[in-house]
Amino acid sequence: MLAIRNIGELVLVPPGPVRGRGMRRVEALGRAALLADGGRIAWIGADRDLETPAGCQILDADGGCVVPGLIDCHTHAVFAGTREHEFVQRIEGRSYAQIAESGGGIRVTVEAVRRASIAELVELARPRLSRMLENGVTTAEIKSGYGLAVEHELKMLQAARRLAADQPIEVVGTYLAAHTTPREFAERPDAYLDAVLDDAVLARIRDEGLAEFCDVFCEKTAFDVPRARRVLEAGKRFGLGPKLHADQITQMGASRLAAEVGAISADHLEHVDDEGIAAMRQAGLIAVVLPACSFFLGVPQAPARKLIEADLPVAVATDYNPGSSMIESLPLTLSIACAQMRMTPTEALVAATANAAAALGRQDRLGALAVGWQADLTVLDVPNHLRWMYEPGRNCVRAVVKSGVAVWPPATG
Ligand code: NIG
Ligand code: FE
Repeated sequence: MLAIRNIGELVLVPPGPVRGRGMRRVEALGRAALLADGGRIAWIGADRDLETPAGCQILDADGGCVVPGLIDCHTHAVFAGTREHEFVQRIEGRSYAQIAESGGGIRVTVEAVRRASIAELVELARPRLSRMLENGVTTAEIKSGYGLAVEHELKMLQAARRLAADQPIEVVGTYLAAHTTPREFAERPDAYLDAVLDDAVLARIRDEGLAEFCDVFCEKTAFDVPRARRVLEAGKRFGLGPKLHADQITQMGASRLAAEVGAISADHLEHVDDEGIAAMRQAGLIAVVLPACSFFLGVPQAPARKLIEADLPVAVATDYNPGSSMIESLPLTLSIACAQMRMTPTEALVAATANAAAALGRQDRLGALAVGWQADLTVLDVPNHLRWMYEPGRNCVRAVVKSGVAVWPPATG
């Protein structure tokens, strides 16, 4: 049993998905306390009303703010190698797409990942996840997509699964073999898809629990709409929920496809059109925006305000990857969402908790700060969540609780 006392602001994020303007209206309690029992939130109320049961561990929030554990619902946190030369190329005027078309981009990371063993991928990702935890993240999605051959894609998913087992962050695997066509299949995308969508491969992913979702990069430099549909329908036959990298660089109708295939989320959306917005709203999927990616690439942000005003549930994630978003900090990403997308801090918080949980199909257990929900909590050293997003240059996290257990900072002595 764990009690958190002396909470300056307890932000009562409701269960997701929270749509549109509802994202801005979240209740909070001052001078509050919280009790976790059996991994769940058992009681919430005024600090003066809490009588801590004998043997209960007490965490003093010291007047700080407590929010649900953050959920990073779109990352590529398992990777090898770096691409700082592309960062410089973009500064000098080349675009992300131009770099990809001339043989750079995803394929550069693929070469490094193919050379790495599972153990090496795990050891490269472990400190990244540890820093994500320090920043208040308690659940993270991790995509494959840098192997681009069955053996290497499975290796990436196995690395993610190993990480899931031996550090506190809950890891959700996504199969993104359709990230782009690898060199050896250049001009033969259908033959590549034949290989990675083979029934035996998808059955293995399902049977070994290697991934819950199947994703595709629907883009000129990757897969067109008919091929993306093929990928997602194949995944669905094996129980993998569809997700898309949609409308990032080119408007090709990817967000409409997301709605048609019943995707759980459509992610990116920098170039979403009105038809796509209407289709997504009709389908009830989560619109995931990735402000750190546009910030890092130096391109315009997705129209988050427009998505919210259209009554969509919007989630925010880092898109952490070595090419387009070398940003592992979800709190920094939320500050970017505020400053560059004009999301309010409350909307950003809901986007990275309740709605991010919904983007991973976990809204019945994660993402809310309510009795009965899993006690995944982030304790801040600032008095309210507005102050947190107002201070992007500093880690404001004082402690992190996962399933009712204080997991950060590490116990001493
Ligand atoms: O989400 N857009 C496609 N995939 C990643 C970038 C991957 C890379 O450049 O390595 C993204 O931005
Ligand atoms: Fe991505």
